[in-house]
Amino acid sequence: MRMSDLIEKKRDGGVLSPAEIRWMIEGYTRGDIPDYQMSAMCMAIYFRGMDPEETYELTMAMLDSGDRIDLSAVSGIKADKHSTGGVGDKTSLVLCPMVAACGVKMAKLSGRGLGHTGGTIDKLESFPGFTTALAEDAFLRQVDQVGFAIAGQTAELCPADKKLYALRDVTATVASRPLIVSSILSKKLAAGADVIVLDVKCGSGAFMHTEQDAFDLARGLAETGRRAGKKVTAVVTDMDEPLGRAVGNALEVKEALSALRGEFREDLMELCLTLGSQILVGGGAAADEAAARAMLEKAVSSGAALEKFAQFVKAQGGDSAAVYDPALLPQAPVQMPVPAATGGWVRRIHAQDVGLVSMRLGGGRASKEDEIDLAVGVVLNKKVGEAVAPGESLGTVHARTEAAAAQAAEMLRACFEIGPERAERPPFIKGVVR
Ligand code: URA
Repeated sequence: MRMSDLIEKKRDGGVLSPAEIRWMIEGYTRGDIPDYQMSAMCMAIYFRGMDPEETYELTMAMLDSGDRIDLSAVSGIKADKHSTGGVGDKTSLVLCPMVAACGVKMAKLSGRGLGHTGGTIDKLESFPGFTTALAEDAFLRQVDQVGFAIAGQTAELCPADKKLYALRDVTATVASRPLIVSSILSKKLAAGADVIVLDVKCGSGAFMHTEQDAFDLARGLAETGRRAGKKVTAVVTDMDEPLGRAVGNALEVKEALSALRGEFREDLMELCLTLGSQILVGGGAAADEAAARAMLEKAVSSGAALEKFAQFVKAQGGDSAAVYDPALLPQAPVQMPVPAATGGWVRRIHAQDVGLVSMRLGGGRASKEDEIDLAVGVVLNKKVGEAVAPGESLGTVHARTEAAAAQAAEMLRACFEIGPERAERPPFIKGVVR
């Protein structure tokens, strides 16, 4: 086979055979196929797409490029959750302990943040001493004994995705449905859970900007998962404005803790109840969604979820005292409110731009090697649909210096669209695809 022939076939709208897809992924992972040819193939796939059979074959070839985690040593049902990425997305920090407190185990591998989106691993490192570099046996033991563990993705799982994702990131080919489906599902299949729930973000802060694209992606994920013999549920959720109110690593951890204490609800808790109930029903721990929601609510109100989270932080070497006293988490020296220039109703908050404000403050990475500042970020005082008076605070910038805060405050003000008429908030949960 010749890679140039496969590129030409896809460029002209042809269908790649399973043997061709496998040959291409194996060759690229080994380094036999150069980046420039794979870039051309990604662009051809971006424009021509792939049918369900091709998408499935690509997923399986990427899965077979590396190791798989064997969760059979962990008793009971094991679940996993993945988000397509957004701004202020601290869902895993709240969802995993809630689900674990209800008896379903969560074995989760997570990544670091890049660009305007944050990463769970970075957020967790806000706890002094916390490590996500767990050996496989320690990971399995913790999932079994504590009920959940969150570890960093290892190089041995899906090396094809690691290479391909880095290439897509610099060739404007991330937002391709078959490439996203195969990237996400190959990693989730390698991680070995019985039940997989995916949070497909939709809106200005997400890869999928329209509902149509997000639902197409959700259907592609559910269908490919079904072909691979897994129960995959995809929930399409809004990412037009940031999730919750905090954006920035330690600030998001504080908001997650406040959700686990039952004090912060809003969109964040709605998302955790929705994803969590899919997991509990899918895992056979609840008869239906209503029963699952009641169990999850109780896990929060009884303090069981917060206690689970403290056990998890301790098990991964972190200072669990910070779970009960968030003042022990990193704090930025400068906190500057951002007053509204005009009054009215908040009509939009550009999620991606809010993510970029946090990144500019030092809370995110422009390149993989960048060091990040865990303390900085923004906390929104206003969300879409809320009234704001002239001079009232839209949010607070948490910064290292006064100069950085002043610059970020200007940027944050520009993220808000304020109008004279009240904006209807679009539904936050857009639908569930099984
Ligand atoms: N998340 C992933 O893991 N892969 C993608 O391609 C997009 C989002």
